[in-house]
Amino acid sequence: MDKIIVEGGIPLKGTVTISGSKNAVLPILAATILTSGKNELENVPRVRDVTTMIELLQDLGAELDFFEKDKVVLDSSSIYKTEAPYDLVSTMRASCLVLGPLLARFGKARVSLPGGCAIGARPINLHLKGFRDLGAEIDLNNGYIEGTVKKLKGARVFFDTVTVTGTANLMMAASLAEGETILENSAKEPEIVFLAEILNRAGAKIEGAGSDTIIIQGVSSLKPISCRILPDRIETGTYMIAAAVTEGEVEVVNCVPEHVESLIQKMREAGVEIVCGASSIKTKHANPLLSVDIKTHPYPGFPTDFQAQFMTMMTLASGQSAIMETVFENRFMHAAELGRMGANIIIEGHTAIVKGTPNLCGAPVMATDLRASASLILAGLAAKGETVISRVYHIDRGYEEMEKKLSKLGANIRRSK
Ligand code: EPZ
Repeated sequence: MDKIIVEGGIPLKGTVTISGSKNAVLPILAATILTSGKNELENVPRVRDVTTMIELLQDLGAELDFFEKDKVVLDSSSIYKTEAPYDLVSTMRASCLVLGPLLARFGKARVSLPGGCAIGARPINLHLKGFRDLGAEIDLNNGYIEGTVKKLKGARVFFDTVTVTGTANLMMAASLAEGETILENSAKEPEIVFLAEILNRAGAKIEGAGSDTIIIQGVSSLKPISCRILPDRIETGTYMIAAAVTEGEVEVVNCVPEHVESLIQKMREAGVEIVCGASSIKTKHANPLLSVDIKTHPYPGFPTDFQAQFMTMMTLASGQSAIMETVFENRFMHAAELGRMGANIIIEGHTAIVKGTPNLCGAPVMATDLRASASLILAGLAAKGETVISRVYHIDRGYEEMEKKLSKLGANIRRSK
């Protein structure tokens, strides 16, 4: 299994270009099922979750006409299957995003129920409740979700918990349903706003995306999708934190500063100097890091996907910070690994108490999930000495060419087979 080896203590300097967003492109790829024609996507990140989703669509019958650099051309007119097999779904939970489009286009779907993952049980009960609200018959047999419906009918769907992929799934299903659907307590993430915008460009009638009430008028069909994928806000913040923890100065370009506003606020509170341009952010470690408290929350609150990376930064701050994780039930596994590097972290239920330390020491550590991997790489960049991160296949799911981008910023980082 691949490992990443980092020789820490080098301040990162220079410019890094942000790739397309994994969490924006996955629903858009699933949405190609709603169309029948050549869908053209640009600024697609070459990460493993994207290739997995494309494999799944090909398994359903789609033709991959082109996948070079950041461009994908996928012909969805040839899709004929409505089953997503366990071996594909088990490697990527976001495969459940094909449920809504399959029900909308074919009136049936058989998708393996995604298992839990390291960070939590991550049920999709709210997705399934929404499909039932739209008139689908949903059963669970032998670990597979089996859905059938003559024609989805618009309805009012209330999400008791804010769910990002749940909102995306129902928005896609409702786009081709009969009549009006109202989604209440919807997710407001930029990826949801982007999905609505792209579906509307393909002929859907969706209003209110970005607020907690989204209204969809069903239409009879959608044109093929053509779009340039939104920049990845979580990748953006990860490189901002890399600058802070290595006492460097980094400019991220091709990003959307307003999508990381909550992180910018917290980093400025921690003494980091941040200057935003129209599509760039300059981050400079200008003062000793100060401890600040964070509490994760659905957008526009502090994203749970920044929690692990921010914890790394707090291990080097002067003072004590409280990090509360309110979205997932088990998203502190990086804490024990950071502890191996000398961090002082005590977990009390959903809160991690981080007492800052002057520096971290390199050590062998293990990645447990995507953002935990990023937090360990950040710690390795800041630490004195060598850090070896194992199970780095996690990082390859959501960060495009991370070692290459960090090396360009001056990091001493390499991958060993
Ligand atoms: C999306 O996951 C992201 N993934 C996650 O990013 C992100 O952490 C998460 O949203 C929260 O922002 C993609 O977009 C592909 P949720 P999702 O449904 O949609 C509970 C990363 O690192 N819930 O918003 O699966 C759930 O258990 C990944 O890029 C139900 O109870 O998350 C969780 O506690 C990790 N029932 C909370 O809601 C449901 O039916 C939020 O989950 C659905 C969700």
